[in-house]
Amino acid sequence: MDIRVLKTKADIAKACGEIFIEEINKKPDIVLGLATGATPLPTYEYLIDAYKNGRVSFKEVTSFNLDEYCDLARENENSYYSYMLNNFFNHVDMDKSRINIPDGNAKDAEKECAAYDKMIEDMGGIDIQLLGIGTNGHIGFNEPSDEFTDATFKVKLSDSTIKSNSIYFPDGDMPRYALTMGIGSIMKAKKIILIATGAAKIDAVDKMVNGEVSPACPASILQNHDDVIIFLDEDAAAKINK
Ligand code: GLP
Repeated sequence: MDIRVLKTKADIAKACGEIFIEEINKKPDIVLGLATGATPLPTYEYLIDAYKNGRVSFKEVTSFNLDEYCDLARENENSYYSYMLNNFFNHVDMDKSRINIPDGNAKDAEKECAAYDKMIEDMGGIDIQLLGIGTNGHIGFNEPSDEFTDATFKVKLSDSTIKSNSIYFPDGDMPRYALTMGIGSIMKAKKIILIATGAAKIDAVDKMVNGEVSPACPASILQNHDDVIIFLDEDAAAKINK
């Protein structure tokens, strides 16, 4: 694992953004795996600025998002579809037909998940996968469990994730299920960049980096990938620095 501890969130957004810009300029029809949550927002802002300054174009880029809530209208402001449009896609020149996000309202979730994996495969796989990490060590919505998951699937969210994410659903209508790429899907990405910022992530980061590779901390599997960059701020890195 290539672990880079930087001072501020802005430093991470710049360092991570510059990697994306370089890779997209090298391969304009790159396939990106994208993440939601609070963590990647500064990176998306950095990329939007770079686009506005003519340093990068997303015209030929294809994207696959990691996950989406089930039983939540796409138009709901808390859907990951809305998140991606509002925080990134609407501000750059992405071709909307190349944006892929699992359909959490699909009648047949299994079929939707299989079709999603097939689309990724047909595109030649993900070139760079961006990840955040949950306080319980989840990546995407792969919750701690007894075994590593494989392909895209429908997951019941853990109590810890419901607690963390319910701040976005003050009316108490936080979805209980989601569709998510599996650990197997994530590990197939050619390059992985994970960002973790803030003290709430200290233990998850410590287990991911120093713990044994175990589905009890899904992110620990990244120790087995041969091209992973982990960007941490000093708060999130507090335990691994000791
Ligand atoms: C969410 C998402 C993950 C994200 C994680 C951390 O539930 N499914 O993809 O990485 O939790 O979110 P945040 O960056 O807001 O801490």
